Amino acid sequence: MENKMIVANLKNYMNYPDTLMYLNEIKDIKDDVIFIPSNIYLTLFKGFNLGVQDISYLNEITTGEITASLVKSMGINYVMISHNERLINLNETTDIINKKIDNALHNDLKVIFCVGEIEKCDFDIACNIILNRLKETIFKIDESKIKNIIIAYEPFYAINSGVTQDILFTQKIVKFIKKSIFDRFNTEISVLYGGSVSDDNIESLKTLEVDGFLIGKASTKSISLKNVVRSIR
Ligand code: 13P
Repeated sequence: MENKMIVANLKNYMNYPDTLMYLNEIKDIKDDVIFIPSNIYLTLFKGFNLGVQDISYLNEITTGEITASLVKSMGINYVMISHNERLINLNETTDIINKKIDNALHNDLKVIFCVGEIEKCDFDIACNIILNRLKETIFKIDESKIKNIIIAYEPFYAINSGVTQDILFTQKIVKFIKKSIFDRFNTEISVLYGGSVSDDNIESLKTLEVDGFLIGKASTKSISLKNVVRSIR
């Protein structure tokens, strides 16, 4: 339980003054959380455990892009790939996602790979959607790299909805993901849950056998994030 990962996906909620205030408020949980701020604020978070919300699928010099090698050279260890918001709002294709995974792994970044059904559906259908997604992405990586993959189960309809996925359903999905990875790679990896996690529901969510939580909006409120940390640690 103590070792559960807490990942704060700050998205682009906070402007510059808000971010400065936030940084001041979260100093005491610095070592408990992996923070994933907007790229433009990354240097403000120097000394924190950091990730990025995305990387380029390109490696060549391309204006405006942030490559995996630049990220690694900043001492940043994590990158989120395949977040449902990006798949839906930016139409990221599977080909692009696979290039990003390759670039990240090639630069020794740890990939937080997001997966989850878009609409509410039966368990079997959700499993099918997830397995197909894993087959076209993560299953293709070299076996030696699987230790650098963390899966985040994030059903799209639970993101920023205020309503988390049903606990039993989530538990079964997490088990399914772990088994699918084990069947393919013969090894265990960490699986996180994300989607409306907050200090309001962490007491029940922490009963889940997951390796941690990926938190969006609630993580931008320092009090909520601290309450989550306190509840889990
Ligand atoms: P919310 O916690 O705001 O639902 O966002 C979850 C998420 O998208 C984390 O990546």
